[in-house]
Amino acid sequence: MRLAGKTALITGARGGIGRAIVARFLREGADVYAADLSEDGSLPGQVSEGRFIKLDVTCEADAIAAMARVGDEAGKLDILVNAAGIEIEKTIEETSLEEWNRSFAVNVTGTFLACKYALPLLRAAAKDGITSSVINFGSYDGFIADPGLAAYCATKGAVHALTRAMACDHGPEGIRVNAICPGYIDTPMMQSFLTGDGVGGDGKSVETMKQAMRDVHPMRTYGTPEDIANLVTWLASDEARYAAGQLWVLDGGLSAQVQQMKL
Ligand SMILES: NC(=O)c1ccc[n+]([C@@H]2O[C@H](COP(=O)([O-])OP(=O)(O)OC[C@H]3O[C@@H](n4cnc5c(N)ncnc54)[C@H](O)[C@@H]3O)[C@@H](O)[C@H]2O)c1
Repeated sequence: MRLAGKTALITGARGGIGRAIVARFLREGADVYAADLSEDGSLPGQVSEGRFIKLDVTCEADAIAAMARVGDEAGKLDILVNAAGIEIEKTIEETSLEEWNRSFAVNVTGTFLACKYALPLLRAAAKDGITSSVINFGSYDGFIADPGLAAYCATKGAVHALTRAMACDHGPEGIRVNAICPGYIDTPMMQSFLTGDGVGGDGKSVETMKQAMRDVHPMRTYGTPEDIANLVTWLASDEARYAAGQLWVLDGGLSAQVQQMKL
């Protein structure tokens, strides 16, 4: 068990990726706090593991209360995973100011608040050469753009910059800060990107769109939440003691490839 004795808090823990991380961390022996807006998150009715904490990442009081509870119960936090996120599928012309602000509130301010109030507990865990680990969620969309995701792309670029800045500030305290930048991962967020109502935006079936999505990858597949949980687990573990300040792209080679001509 690679995370035995470690305490972890995951935001967005009832989402597609969050649930896979919670399940894997429990198998690796961690004491897991699963934080989300609700017990069901983005997957109503599915089995929920880990100790639930209601945490709206945009709410400062919630962040303070969540970290106070972890402090009272565990006295330290070895691993913070900031997986809460939303995606608004619009160009900037279509995006209202409220939607723009909401995107930044969840994806960027949410990461800021959780990190800010977790820092004393992360410091308490970083002792005797053992590091603590913060894992933020960026996206390959923070490097290159999907059309029609303007605010989302901007928030993920901000998370990337925040990750590097935090790694510089808190590395000397034994706190490693990294971001994972997934490509397409099969979760409710990806389903919503493909279609909101069972039929793709241009009238094609979801399966047709999924196949087209597989085909654009050099590896000819999109990712699963478990693929992401594998990398999160390594970054959270002591094996990753030298890994800090990096943006770890996990996208089946998608962003390595120049767009191909359609003949
Ligand atoms: N799925 C992908 O293809 C993909 C690609 C790149 C990056 N990501 C990133 O990975 C992370 C997880 O995404 P996912 O695919 O699991 O999405 P998801 O929609 O399945 O889960 C997101 C979770 O965040 C929670 N959440 C939303 N607003 C919140 C708030 N204010 N406070 C607390 N929790 C809140 C939701 O309840 C949900 O459970 C996100 O940051 C996302 O941007 C996903």
